[in-house]
Amino acid sequence: MTSPDTRPHQGSPDRYPAGSAAFPHRDLTGLAGLAPWELLYLLDEAQQWVELNRQSHKRVDRLKGLTIINAFFENSTRTLLSFEIAGKRLGADVVNMHAAQSSVKKGETLIDTAMTLNAMHADAIVIRHQSSGAVQLIADKVDCPVLNAGDGQHEHPTQGLLDALTIRNAKGEIAGLKIVICGDILHSRVARSNIHCLTTLGADVRVCAPPALMPADIEALKVTPFHDFNAALAGADVVMMLRLQQERMEGQFIPSPREYRHLFGLSLDRLARAKPDAMVMHPGPMNRGIEIDSNVADLADRSHITRQVEMGVAIRMACLDVLTRKARGLEGWA
Ligand code: CP
Repeated sequence: MTSPDTRPHQGSPDRYPAGSAAFPHRDLTGLAGLAPWELLYLLDEAQQWVELNRQSHKRVDRLKGLTIINAFFENSTRTLLSFEIAGKRLGADVVNMHAAQSSVKKGETLIDTAMTLNAMHADAIVIRHQSSGAVQLIADKVDCPVLNAGDGQHEHPTQGLLDALTIRNAKGEIAGLKIVICGDILHSRVARSNIHCLTTLGADVRVCAPPALMPADIEALKVTPFHDFNAALAGADVVMMLRLQQERMEGQFIPSPREYRHLFGLSLDRLARAKPDAMVMHPGPMNRGIEIDSNVADLADRSHITRQVEMGVAIRMACLDVLTRKARGLEGWA
């Protein structure tokens, strides 16, 4: 799979305050409630790491001597690896805790696990957990910055940021774009973080799902809901597909994968309803042949799926860098 090259954005430094005031938070537990300029600041900070990551020598010493713990209570490929690569490229010592091989399996509580990580004097803890709110619970108990790597159906903030960076580098501006997010909106933390980020930055966000997979209060998030994917796609600049999250479903939410694909799958024919240069995105992991056809996912000039993964490393480097400033003796969160 290939993806088109990007046009790096020049940044928006006139739109946020100088220094640590541009992101005055200890933790990154979600994108809800962040100001447009706080989001823009993180996107701008990430751009330098996009450039570094494309060079043959990719390591700097900015976080030398710091310890970052990645505590993953749920499976991950992209997020875990990119946080690990991000920490290492910034020169930190990075350790990974996989819940399946930890004392969580012996019955240790989340709070006791958090207190144990805290006692090891980590300088930042990155957490993925299957329960919405678990990351905030840990953030309330520990002394260092906490980064949410996805909690239940709640948020996946670095995914929202990396998607915004991918869109901005391809389209130049996010404000005014028509962005369709289609799939299992109900169970998707990716959808929620993208909605918070993209609406805050001025995009016209349309969400599309079968009625059973659409949250009842979705319009409160300032998006336009659709149950007809063809109608949602009309004139779209960006089409972001999500997988069915079977692991979070109790009971039957769709009649069958075949019928779901027929109504909500992205095929070449259906993509033709969007703008001719509409971007195709997917956070992964993909279920090819269900929510997206392979010949769409692999479109060389339209699919940005591998570019999303690339931007993920840069965004995670930016977040680790910004949130550990205080640990490095710099001006940071109050
Ligand atoms: N997009 C995403 O969160 O992928 P992983 O589950 O592989 O981390």
